[in-house]
Amino acid sequence: MALISTTEMFRKAHEGKYAVGAFNVNNMEIIQGIVDAAKEERSPLILQVSAGARKYAKHIYLMKLVEAAVLDSGLDIALHLDHGEDFEICKACVDGGFTSIMIDGSKYDFEENIALTKKVVDYAHSKGIPVEGELGQLAGIEDDINVADVDATFTDPDQAVEFVERTGVDSLAIAIGTSHGAYKFKGEPRLDFARLEKIVSLLPEGYPIVLHGASTVLPEFVAMNNKYGAKIEGAQGVPEEMLKKATTMGVSKINIDTDLRLAMTASIRRHLVEHPADFDPRKYLGPARQAIKEMVAHKMRNVLGSSNKL
Ligand code: G3H
Ligand code: 13P
Ligand code: ZN
Repeated sequence: MALISTTEMFRKAHEGKYAVGAFNVNNMEIIQGIVDAAKEERSPLILQVSAGARKYAKHIYLMKLVEAAVLDSGLDIALHLDHGEDFEICKACVDGGFTSIMIDGSKYDFEENIALTKKVVDYAHSKGIPVEGELGQLAGIEDDINVADVDATFTDPDQAVEFVERTGVDSLAIAIGTSHGAYKFKGEPRLDFARLEKIVSLLPEGYPIVLHGASTVLPEFVAMNNKYGAKIEGAQGVPEEMLKKATTMGVSKINIDTDLRLAMTASIRRHLVEHPADFDPRKYLGPARQAIKEMVAHKMRNVLGSSNKL
């Protein structure tokens, strides 16, 4: 058991036509819930840390918690930097023990994104660490958006090939209609599967594609938050059927954070409403950890197809 890179995970995922879940972590209970699920499901696992998470919990705490999870569970786990925004944070994570890095240059123009991504790839590869890049702007397909707008926002298939060739990135996050957070679509959820198919067909066989913003925002978890005090309206995520389809089309990594937030927060809300006199954090963080575990197990079994792949 060890902290491992994503290279072999993605090769197997492509072969088996499933995707590996990349779950965002911020504290001990989240890590424990996710890792317990992976162990029970016998699923490969990527734990990912955003810049915000790294600032909130500190690099060293997350690193040591994930190392503890590896020792405690006996699993191989990849520890990934999510949305690295500059060379410095990517270098700090490579030097600080992460086994996979994302450089997100998607807000820059094509040439700047290439230059930044290549700089990170050169450094990370010199230390044996794979890199995820991103091309295209994450945004939902709205009814009033025309084809030209979609073309300007979503990942261009020819550019994707050039980007991969010129940067040497090991996996690519693409924009086909998903977006971050709980409000992904205004109307009917839609993903540009034709674009995904085109991108996959132009890249080398088995090249790993990444979907960000892939939470489903399950209505029962929105309802449970609302039942216990929240006022979440108009939330909508990516339907599970669409995610399942993507896993068979070349998407090897699926990023999930919002669904964990909704599950964890609903559980805490419920506990505090039902037990207003409680003030021992273990009383509400214990059930919250269990809620995360159940959500992750559901994803692995019913959406990613990664259960029983170890
Ligand atoms: O893609 C973003 C993830 O959901 C992480 O969010 O930056 O608030 O930690 P965060
Ligand atoms: P969600 O907000 O859909 O969970 O996406 C998370 C993500 O893409 C993290 O990088
Ligand atoms: Zn993301």
